[in-house]
Amino acid sequence: MNHAEGARFRLRDDLRLVGAGGTNKVMAGELSRLVRRALDDVRLPEPKKAGPGALVYPFEPRVARVAALYHRTCVRVLWDVIETRAERLEPLFADVSEAAASCVQRFLWDGARLSVYAHGVQEFAAGERQVVGTVKNALIEAAAKCGMQVRLDPEAPDILFVVRWDEGVIRVSVDLAGRPMNQRGYRRERAQAPLREDLAAVMLMLARYDARHDILLDPMAGSGTIAIEAACMAKALPTFVPPRRPLLLGMPAFRGLPPDGETPLFADTQPCVFASDIDPAMKTITEQAADDAALVDCLSVATTDFRELTPERIVQLARARGATFETGLIISNPPYGERLDTTDLDTFYGDLRRFCQRFRGFRAAFLVANRNFEDAFGLRPKIKKPLSNGPLPAYFYLYEL
Ligand SMILES: C[S@@+](CC[C@H](N)C(=O)[O-])C[C@H]1O[C@@H](n2cnc3c(N)ncnc32)[C@H](O)[C@@H]1O
Repeated sequence: MNHAEGARFRLRDDLRLVGAGGTNKVMAGELSRLVRRALDDVRLPEPKKAGPGALVYPFEPRVARVAALYHRTCVRVLWDVIETRAERLEPLFADVSEAAASCVQRFLWDGARLSVYAHGVQEFAAGERQVVGTVKNALIEAAAKCGMQVRLDPEAPDILFVVRWDEGVIRVSVDLAGRPMNQRGYRRERAQAPLREDLAAVMLMLARYDARHDILLDPMAGSGTIAIEAACMAKALPTFVPPRRPLLLGMPAFRGLPPDGETPLFADTQPCVFASDIDPAMKTITEQAADDAALVDCLSVATTDFRELTPERIVQLARARGATFETGLIISNPPYGERLDTTDLDTFYGDLRRFCQRFRGFRAAFLVANRNFEDAFGLRPKIKKPLSNGPLPAYFYLYEL
């Protein structure tokens, strides 16, 4: 049965990457780089865009596994399995249990503990908790029909399902990582305004960071998110820091497939990354996170006012680490006005321009949630792109210095 024949539900078999608005191209580019490296016999098809931050590919278990193990610019990696146009709870239950009975063996197993969450189901004719309860009961019943006893465990599930409402369709998907992809596991202490990890990764992709040629400097690094993401991306380290692992590794459809998810895909790449901040507390936080992410060899951390950093000092630091480089990338998420008034901020961004101009031949990339930035910084961006930083409307800027 499917929608085309007038039925309410149909089975789906799609891989869906969900990220921040405006990141489709970047998410697709990253997946394609990872798949080329990890699976040399797979040709990734062009994805379908399913909104400003959502891509859909035909489901292929090895590709899905690469995405859940290594992708950094998305926030969720989902496997869409069921869609229904049910408008009330009873038909929702009937559809999910009937549809799931023909596919649960691919993702559930006897004894599995499951959990369900809902996202954006406000338009549905019942409350979120009822939708969650209905889908959960339908999945448990479908598993029982297939001879499997599964139980609910919201605290420590082996498998997490998400129910979404999208233009009249309820979609049930398996959340392949079992958590947002940006919860990498290298952050123990939080700085005041840390950048979300996926956005740091998006910035690096937009700035075309290439660790084989670029030295990288974040002069206002805070807790070091951009610097750490840069080193992780350069080596294509697993997105989650052990012992954290994506849940899909335990599911029948993915057991025993390569890659194993323990090893970096570009182990030989040796990134050369500097993180500096004026606040001494940030150095400890960044060093701890770099340590947890097994990156101490790639990262140098300092406490400095960016105005005092010079190209000579950066070159010296690179030489001391035995690194060579042809080009450089200054990349940062500068203060946007929470503690400075407008006049101070204009001066601050002017100082930032003078600092950048010392680094002739480098590129500079910023994510800023302040309308005055472009004028106060005063150079003409090569790229300007809206990129929201949580609830704050922000822009990504790229300059050639
Ligand atoms: C928006 S936060 C950066 C957050 C960072 N991307 C993270 O993920 O944690 C801006 C940072 O600029 C730093 N900062 C402000 N003035 C500075 C200066 N003159 N030199 C260096 N860092 C400065 C602040 O201490 C703060 O950590």
